[in-house]
Amino acid sequence: MGISTPTVGEIQYEFSKKVFTELLNNKPKFVDYLNTEKTPLLLMDTEGVKSRYVQIKYHMPDVEVYYAVKANDHPQVIKVLVEVGAGFEVASVRELQEVLSAGASPERIISSNPVKPPEFIDFAYSSGVQRFAVDSFSEIDKIQRIAPRARIYVRITVPNEGSDWPLSRKFGTDPDTALEILDYSRRKGLIPIGITFHVGSQCNNLRNWFIAIKRASLLWNKAKDRGIRLLTLNMGGGIPVRYSYESVKIEDIAYYVKGLLRKYFPVPPYELQIEPGRGIVGDQGLMITKVIGKAERGNEKWLYIDTGVFNGLAEAIGGIRYPFYLESKGELKEWTIGGVSCDSMDVVARNVFLPEPEVGQLLYIPSAGAYTTVYASEFNGFPKPRVICL
Ligand SMILES: Cc1ncc(COP(=O)(O)O)c(C=O)c1O
Repeated sequence: MGISTPTVGEIQYEFSKKVFTELLNNKPKFVDYLNTEKTPLLLMDTEGVKSRYVQIKYHMPDVEVYYAVKANDHPQVIKVLVEVGAGFEVASVRELQEVLSAGASPERIISSNPVKPPEFIDFAYSSGVQRFAVDSFSEIDKIQRIAPRARIYVRITVPNEGSDWPLSRKFGTDPDTALEILDYSRRKGLIPIGITFHVGSQCNNLRNWFIAIKRASLLWNKAKDRGIRLLTLNMGGGIPVRYSYESVKIEDIAYYVKGLLRKYFPVPPYELQIEPGRGIVGDQGLMITKVIGKAERGNEKWLYIDTGVFNGLAEAIGGIRYPFYLESKGELKEWTIGGVSCDSMDVVARNVFLPEPEVGQLLYIPSAGAYTTVYASEFNGFPKPRVICL
């Protein structure tokens, strides 16, 4: 009688099953929709969204939370976050209109995209939004022309290692240039107020926060030596959620970040901010898709579902590894999961262990609340997921 060691596939599938089962235990109201005919469907738990916000505030009571609307802009999601007192981070006229019409106050709205369309700056400033991120001199010139007394915070680059969705390649500047940008904004009549960074989305590497906070504190002190008294430290997004592997918990991030802040900001900034997107909505959604076909290509077993990287699962091509679950028993086999469109880049996942599905069977994808519907198009004529908020 030997002890049998579980295979990689068994471990992977057990984890997905655990994520799915726990999701249903926490969200019994999802159960009524598990046999839906009309797929793809995204179920969102708006009470859960609220609880996530409250949980983050509980662990970081001194930090103002600005929800990054880009993660999921569903009106119900925005509505519950307004009710619970969240601030909002927006990038476009439409996002801003959505949060304003849901009742958010302009003083609780910031814009952290460092390069903004002039129409957006104009609309935001005239609506009462005053705080804008920058990472270039040219953005200062643009803002100064449109919003002459705007408040400016500068984005610095920080390591994004270990973040499944890195963001530092496109935005941010080095601390020396950031200092010059802050100084330039002051000379232009704008009001330099702070520093921002982003450790990368789905960040499971606490070291990124360490380097970021340390780097920000050096810049903060150099600005002070130049007579620029900053008020705001914005620590961006990055809070991870559980996908096909466990993620760092918010309480651990909060504990670590608070320690770093005590060390590197002995005099606390007037306002500490974070702007999570994924960390608030990511694990509050369940995507329900349907298996529409199967094929064997050489040694590879393929299954095809009615969602894909163009109509809901875009992040699958950039490093997000969703868990997958099927209500089936039987031997686990290794699958490549193809999306619904004709495009060959529409591959949702590889090396996924699942029991053999029937065509027509539902495939469940937990942790699909962030960056799914917002990215979706109707490429090839396939619909975006319906969304039901419960
Ligand atoms: C400027 C900015 N803030 C916040 C976020 C939200 O990040 P996350 O979803 O990792 O919390 C993003 C994501 O792209 C961002 O670009």
